[in-house]
Amino acid sequence: MRKHVLMTTVALFVGATSTNIAAAGDVEVLHWWTSGGEAAALNVLKEGLEGQGIGWNDMPVAGGGGESAMTVLRARVTAGNAPTAVQGLGFDIIDWAKQGSLANLNDVAAKEGWDDVIPAALQQFAKVDGKWVSAPVNVHSTNWVWANKAVLDANGIAVPTTWDEFVAALDKLKAAGITPVAHGGQAWQEATVFDGVAMSVLGPDGYKAAFIDLDEATLGSDSMKEVFDRMGVIRANVDENFSGRDWNLATAMVINGEAGFQMMGDWAKGEFINAGKVPGEDFLCFRFPGTADQVTFNADQFMMFDQGGNVSPEQAALASAILAPSFQSAFNVVKGSVPARTDVSDEAFDACGKKGMADLAAAAKSGNLFGSMAHGHASAASVKNAMYDVITAHFNGEYDSATAVEELVDAVSIAK
Ligand code: GAL
Repeated sequence: MRKHVLMTTVALFVGATSTNIAAAGDVEVLHWWTSGGEAAALNVLKEGLEGQGIGWNDMPVAGGGGESAMTVLRARVTAGNAPTAVQGLGFDIIDWAKQGSLANLNDVAAKEGWDDVIPAALQQFAKVDGKWVSAPVNVHSTNWVWANKAVLDANGIAVPTTWDEFVAALDKLKAAGITPVAHGGQAWQEATVFDGVAMSVLGPDGYKAAFIDLDEATLGSDSMKEVFDRMGVIRANVDENFSGRDWNLATAMVINGEAGFQMMGDWAKGEFINAGKVPGEDFLCFRFPGTADQVTFNADQFMMFDQGGNVSPEQAALASAILAPSFQSAFNVVKGSVPARTDVSDEAFDACGKKGMADLAAAAKSGNLFGSMAHGHASAASVKNAMYDVITAHFNGEYDSATAVEELVDAVSIAK
């Protein structure tokens, strides 16, 4: 993982906080943003806070998707030593709030009008029992495909819009001796691919029934078998060294033309940008074939852990800085995600970012916006982990598709 220093300016934060909370001291921030693109984005926040006189005590825990970070967090909380702020996703935030571990951000939220500018889809994970407990940083989505444009052009491949076209493109790349799909064999990455494949096969109603409502009939359906069959096709198009590979190294394979495609959330764009690549010229971003109108989202938030009393001035300042429109633009341009507020202009965003913002708004309007199963926005961690186990076992050849469907039904019924 390479370290990266981003040229950001503290000027981005001039006027960033509308509350001007007086703050002294440090914040300790636990997160899993350790890839080049992620670290670059994090620097935007770090430098902004330092500009306000708040020191940043960095607590990175490597591992995409944040599983390892959550293990470290549990240990820290059990030891009575919770970090000030912690990157969190979806149902994990709700769990910590229900356990009474999170501070109340209602004062900052009220002063800054969060209720009016943060979309309802995010509020359901940031506001628990009427209490704001975390500050939404961004909205990512998982049903994206990233492609190397030169590789596609050289092989006469147009952006595939259907599964059949996608498979034909994979065949062409394989015949040309190029790895069709760059993939890292880690359970959360397989689940991320599964989000898009499942949405395309099951459609929005089926996706919701399976992963949000945990409907047994949908989980055990023939359509679900088709989802696993298609995962098998993808498995047949990854290189032999995929096991255990970090997601950003898979992105690098697309960046340097070793592979044609990667199915990954838009944090992958952060890697392309960090490598100086330009959308539409060097790389392409498009929705997983068959999911053009849908968005499976995950939103990074910073949960503020109760330090024994009211929210601290540093926590309030951090929350305020995170929600500042100037920060939302500056950070998300680098991160690959889109703003967590509805009132931020898309002006500073590149073509993929503009598309991400437009897709999100359209999906929210048409009822096509759903929480990502892979990133903890569809169901509680226990269910998510049960699904991971089955998906990854199937991907690694332990189950055929029919067995995977049966295992999925069983695993979910035990976990829920
Ligand atoms: C996701 C997170 C993203 C990105 C990704 C890979 O869970 O929401 O911000 O960090 O993991 O690390």
